Amino acid sequence: MKIIGTGSAHPKCCVTNTMLEQFLETTDEWITERTGIKERLVISSEKLEDLAVIAANKALEDANLTAKDIDFIICSNVVNEYVTPALSCIIQGKIGATCPTLDINAACAGFIFAMDMAEDKIRCKKAKNILIVCAEEPSRMVSWENRSTSVLFGDGAGAAVVSEGDELKAIRLTTSSLTDVLYYQRSLEPTPYIDKDENFEPLVMKGRDVFKHAVTNSCRDIRKLLNETGLQPEDIKYYVLHQANLRIIDSIRHFLGVDEERVPHNVERYGNISSAALPALLDELNRAGKLQKGDKLVFSAFGAGFTTGACVIEWAK
Ligand code: ACO
Repeated sequence: MKIIGTGSAHPKCCVTNTMLEQFLETTDEWITERTGIKERLVISSEKLEDLAVIAANKALEDANLTAKDIDFIICSNVVNEYVTPALSCIIQGKIGATCPTLDINAACAGFIFAMDMAEDKIRCKKAKNILIVCAEEPSRMVSWENRSTSVLFGDGAGAAVVSEGDELKAIRLTTSSLTDVLYYQRSLEPTPYIDKDENFEPLVMKGRDVFKHAVTNSCRDIRKLLNETGLQPEDIKYYVLHQANLRIIDSIRHFLGVDEERVPHNVERYGNISSAALPALLDELNRAGKLQKGDKLVFSAFGAGFTTGACVIEWAK
């Protein structure tokens, strides 16, 4: 499998740390020091599906393909306005594709889980070109009265078109059932028969636990992949890591012994946009002309579950 096109889209409403100071007991200094985030872009008048469609169309254009060339669409999404139909069905119609589609939820690691599924479909010759769209609105999962969680997130979409090739060198996925460190419970319709206690809560996060799992698991995954591919840390042009928190990114970089310039980040401008973070950052690097054919890239992400995904891929464009 190889990546042949990327795209991204962000909402227009920019919420700075100073704006948060107006209604939360927080400061720009605290948020910057603990997370690196200065501002985040959040959904206001847009629909998430529209951001997803813009990102998808940009990726198709970058790949020099049309929607009709796509054999399968995988959409990574945790929440959107619809529980059903799947967001991928909406994207399919709006971009004018005719192929089957599927939504997955591997939280912030969704892009790598989608890449793994795409690789399998391509390897089995069930598809040639696959569109992956990661579209997320975590700003709608948090309580905006909770300073511990609301300051961390933004919304957005990132997309990639993948096709036949040998450029995916190694990939690794993990799930460990740690469901209490990060969760969001959405309410369901009442029925006359429900007689159990149900608890509907905005996003709950044990920040320190998430921090530790993120750093430990990401470092473990990356080391295993480098070992498997016989690559040294310095053979990797960029480590494209999940953009949750600059301190997590810096800790992973520190433990791997990698120079700062090899670990790009944009979390300071977008906040954590869940699974969309990785393809959106990749798109930024691609459009800035920072990727050359043959560059080796490491992707690594972690998310609620706890899920982790990482891969080594050679840039093919
Ligand atoms: N402003 C001011 N004070 C705050 C804020 C805020 N926005 N948020 C929390 N605090 C307070 C807490 O209430 C606490 O006060 P207390 O000591 O009086 O109880 C104090 O700051 C310290 O809180 P800690 O949680 O111990 O602070 P910590 O240094 O661990 O930083 C943080 C918190 C930033 C959440 C950190 O734990 C972290 O980055 N964890 C990773 C979480 C993450 O990245 N999640 C992303 C989503 S998950 C994903 O993408 C998979």
